[in-house]
Amino acid sequence: MPSLKKYHTFGIAVKCNELIRIGSAEQLQQQLKERKADYFILGGGSNILMIDNLVRPVLKNEIKGKEIIKETEKHVFLKVGSGENWHRLVRYCVACNFGGIENLSLIPGTVGAAPMQNIGAYGVETIDVFDSLEAINLKTGKLRKFSKAACHFGYRSSIFKTKLKGRYFITSVTFKLTKKNHKLHLGYGAISSRLKDAKISNPTIREISDVVMSIRESKLPDPRLIGNAGSFFKNPVVSNYKAKKLQKTYPGIPVYKQDDNTFKLSAGWLIEQCGWKGKKHGGAACYDKHALILINHNAASSNDVLELSKAIQFSVNEKFNINLDPEVNFIS
Ligand code: EPU
Repeated sequence: MPSLKKYHTFGIAVKCNELIRIGSAEQLQQQLKERKADYFILGGGSNILMIDNLVRPVLKNEIKGKEIIKETEKHVFLKVGSGENWHRLVRYCVACNFGGIENLSLIPGTVGAAPMQNIGAYGVETIDVFDSLEAINLKTGKLRKFSKAACHFGYRSSIFKTKLKGRYFITSVTFKLTKKNHKLHLGYGAISSRLKDAKISNPTIREISDVVMSIRESKLPDPRLIGNAGSFFKNPVVSNYKAKKLQKTYPGIPVYKQDDNTFKLSAGWLIEQCGWKGKKHGGAACYDKHALILINHNAASSNDVLELSKAIQFSVNEKFNINLDPEVNFIS
């Protein structure tokens, strides 16, 4: 049985019955023609928790390639193979002076995962630079193009995580990036203060990417060294009424107003308030520098992580009456 330990960033020792490497859309179509099965699609494995060994055959996405398919005076339309590494794409774009994804530096995973869950960080989300994608229907083998509207993007969500979950294999993503007059997003988190410290007043997209990398490196664990899957839970969204009530009881609680008059809370803050930061459970732990991240600190089993996540959900619910939804996908 092939081991999946090095194919997912939690680094948990799970296996699968069969691992099939997919290098192109045509190869995938051939595979689907030859054999109908309930396949599991594996990209960078950076947002999953494998609960058991996988009985389903695994399709490992290794579709590579980058191509400029259209250019205007201001924009470039870059079509990218879904199996390309995300951060390497960011650095490639920075080197070419293609603007738009520099704030998304160092996010682990593949290009295909970017639209799948509308990855986001430091005020930018995939939706902001997305043009279209191509995906193959796993039942029919047909290739379909999805526009931005067809993807139903939401906070860490898209139609591929909801209505069409498990039905399509994304083969390529086309991004619309700027060639000049880049729209910079400096307002979120520590970006501006770090740029100020470095005495940079007119940052280039490379400088922004470098700063984002240094912020992430200072508080998020490097999955090559410490197994993890990034934020384990989504930041919960609550009503105006509930946010005001919480602010009365907990004056220090971070709340972020959304366009629809709801409020996003920081799951990391809620978890920290419940005393979980740095706490261990078996081989799993709540990361000591960022409570929203669960880590595999010492040969954790899936169960260690699962039990820890349930205990955290329980105490956040008990203290704040808030349900934390996992951001990580559980695979069994
Ligand atoms: N906080 C704490 N204690 C903690 C962690 C955070 O009090 O242990 C509070 C702080 O007040 C901090 C606030 O939470 O100011 C927000 O923290 P941070 O800026 O680190 O962002 P986040 O909301 O925890 C989100 C994304 C991250 C993304 C960062 C930066 C989600 C679920 N997570 O985290 O995405 O990198 O913003 O934009 O939306 C991921 O999805 O895997 C991920 C890492």
